[in-house]
Amino acid sequence: MQGAQLECVRCGSTYRGQEDLYGCEECGDGLQLALDLEGLVYDSLKHRWRERPLRVWRYREMLPDGTREVSLEEGGTPLLSVDVLGPAASGIHAFVKNEGQNPTGSFKDRGMTVGVTHARAIGRRRVICASTGNTAASLAAYASRAGMEGVVLVPSGGIAKGKLAQALFEGARVVGLQGTFDDAMRVVVEAAKRLDAYVLNSINPYRIEGQKTAAYEVFEQLGGRVPDWLVCPVGNGGNLAAYWKGFQELKEIGATEDLPRLVGVQAEGASPIADAIIHGYEEIHAVEKPETVASAIRIGNPANWRKTIRAIRESDGTALKLPDAVILEGQSLLARHEGIFVEPASAASVAGAMRLASQGFFEDGERVVLVTTGHGLKDPEAALRVVPEAEPVDPSVDGIVRAVEGRR
Ligand code: F0G
Repeated sequence: MQGAQLECVRCGSTYRGQEDLYGCEECGDGLQLALDLEGLVYDSLKHRWRERPLRVWRYREMLPDGTREVSLEEGGTPLLSVDVLGPAASGIHAFVKNEGQNPTGSFKDRGMTVGVTHARAIGRRRVICASTGNTAASLAAYASRAGMEGVVLVPSGGIAKGKLAQALFEGARVVGLQGTFDDAMRVVVEAAKRLDAYVLNSINPYRIEGQKTAAYEVFEQLGGRVPDWLVCPVGNGGNLAAYWKGFQELKEIGATEDLPRLVGVQAEGASPIADAIIHGYEEIHAVEKPETVASAIRIGNPANWRKTIRAIRESDGTALKLPDAVILEGQSLLARHEGIFVEPASAASVAGAMRLASQGFFEDGERVVLVTTGHGLKDPEAALRVVPEAEPVDPSVDGIVRAVEGRR
């Protein structure tokens, strides 16, 4: 796909060659790449795809030009059949799409390979983002890989240590702000102009192009069908909107006639999108001081709220918000029952699906995909608060046996 043009997702205004535009000048809504799917037919594409490894660039016909890709072999994450939805869901086929298995441990790498490839193609030397941590770690890695300078704006003290360590170690300039992620997001575009940097938040349409490949993978991994439900944690909303774009494109190229219904899950202390869906608001009510243990989705004023709300409504889906304790319970259950260790934000999808299943929401025979977005090692502190380390014991066989058998 060459010579891309940007178009507004709402009013259709088009833009060409305005690479530093991250929203529509007419109506303020989000931009997307205007893809020319004419002539792309799944029946012929699938043969080409199958010759390539399951990775983001397997789907290059559907992506912006990536002749000189900046890649760490992202994508190709497993879709694992799981049994975590509880007894009420025995007839339901649940799967985890484990995006924590991407190179830097989160789904952001899908978008970053495409975004940084584009940044290099248009001759940019510096890339920037506001982040709750994972975008920062991913941007830092791909900037290094491309020989570019990475700048990341993060809420000081508000991001998980694993992500901070990654971004610092990968050589990004990490700027801690005395404020929230929303404060960082509010200034990132203006700061980028002054710094001559290219913005790689999910308001960047190239990022979304990469992220949509997860939808193609789910489709292929389910044997050439879309799930009935896709349950996804929501922060800024870029990811869920990207899945929707991916599934819609599969329909457009004749791969399927069906579309999944989308479920967005937020934490109770940071739930403007879920609230809008639940109460039927046209606009979100931003949350001034978002609070949740799931720091990745501690976002009160999501940049992509319009796209996300539209995607959920178009899909005839729903949204829910969960207390932190319920999210952490989902995180523990997934690790203990299935050996899949995800960070708290990721567990929102698991906990959300568990709650819906317990209410009899899903029907027998339905396929439900739970997207887990980031690896548990990103945030060991959050995990150790749930399951504290035991006291050390004597380095003797007796000591060990007593510790294991629980007798002292
Ligand atoms: N899960 C994880 C682990 C995340 O890091 C994020 C977003 C989300 C879910 C939500 O995705 O914003 O597309 O709705 N993290 C961003 C960051 C904000 O800066 O790393 P979304």
